[in-house]
Amino acid sequence: MAILVTGGMGYIGSHTCLELLELGYEVVCIDNLSNSSPESIRRVEELTGKSVRAYIGDVRDEALLRQIFAENTIDCVIHFAGLKAVGESVSIPWKYYDNNLNSTLVLTKVMADVGVKRIIFSSSATVYAGDNQMPLREDSRTGGCTNPYGWTKYMTEQILSGMAFADRDWSVVLLRYFNPIGAHHSGRIGEDPQGIPNNLMPFITQVAVGRRERLNIFGNDYDTPDGTCIRDYIHVVDLAKGHVAAISYVMQNQGCEVFNLGTGQGTSVLEMVNTFMEATGVNVPYVFAGRRAGDLPVCYAGTDKSAQVLGWKAEKTLFDMCRDSWAWQSKNPMGYLEK
Ligand code: NAD
Ligand code: UFG
Repeated sequence: MAILVTGGMGYIGSHTCLELLELGYEVVCIDNLSNSSPESIRRVEELTGKSVRAYIGDVRDEALLRQIFAENTIDCVIHFAGLKAVGESVSIPWKYYDNNLNSTLVLTKVMADVGVKRIIFSSSATVYAGDNQMPLREDSRTGGCTNPYGWTKYMTEQILSGMAFADRDWSVVLLRYFNPIGAHHSGRIGEDPQGIPNNLMPFITQVAVGRRERLNIFGNDYDTPDGTCIRDYIHVVDLAKGHVAAISYVMQNQGCEVFNLGTGQGTSVLEMVNTFMEATGVNVPYVFAGRRAGDLPVCYAGTDKSAQVLGWKAEKTLFDMCRDSWAWQSKNPMGYLEK
């Protein structure tokens, strides 16, 4: 079976390509390198001893997509390609709406034309409204997004679910990720953010490796046990395995289903920093800074539906996530620049 992975050279995409290859799937990928390096897929090939058919190009390039579907017999698409920097989406909204919406529109247009109507989409916990009770369930209220990035995820969910409603040949799975961190245990592939990291774990690892002086913890006056924000961190390898489970589902069903991919466990920023220091033996200096605009105090997933319907559950611990993030960062202090 052949899977087209858009954005396959990125953080989650490269880990998913690796899992797919190890399970014997054929993998075709397209990536425009806007936030990645082809070195990731070269290393996936090295780790698995198998090859990926990689196309460098944009998912909005309809002619290229038609070529890819003509040259390969694709059974299903996993659509990771997208821009994901929340802050940048506030300053350059058009870029996010263009990239994230038009990539999906062009992709699904070509898929419909060639009769491949199975797609798994990378959505996010950010689509949930801010006033839900925890844990967030798939039927919790969505909308009220606080930034254009979040709206692109929300709108893409609407586009894909509307298509599946109108044409029952479509099979759509929307996966709402919580906070992916960690790396393949080899330390050969991992998250390689450009510039100053927005997210907690890459910031921690860059402090640990000496690229940054200290971590700013955004807020210690939240209504949580230690005053810092709580999130549901999930190991990227568990997340990749969630996509494998979703392939089985999408191949056997029609319509549109949404699943959370999280652990169901909440971890505070301070707990994360302390677990990282324990797992790695490396000190992470930090200071408390003001709250970051838009942060929710607490966010974690309900996991019953993905366990019951997909038969998938995250297995790795917070300790595993910290150890593996550090394996990647310490072996590749400058990310993929280090060959
Ligand atoms: P990433 O930036 O590492 O990967 C995305 C990849 O898509 C990159 O390799 C980039 O070059 C490529 N890309 C972007 N636009 C493209 C286009 N128009 N054509 C071709 N390639 C394009 O990000 P990631 O963390 O691996 O995230 C993958 C997906 O999961 C994204 O859609 C993201 O929004 C979503 N997601 C990520 C998180 C997270 O915290 N990492 C959380 C929720 C959802
Ligand atoms: N944090 C710090 N210091 C930092 C970075 C983060 O204290 O330098 C804190 C944040 O304030 C937050 C927690 O660490 O309390 C986690 O922050 P991240 O930026 O790692 O993750 P978020 O939960 O804010 O955002 C993630 C994804 C977004 C997505 C959102 C909701 O990065 O793409 O989840 O699903 F929109």
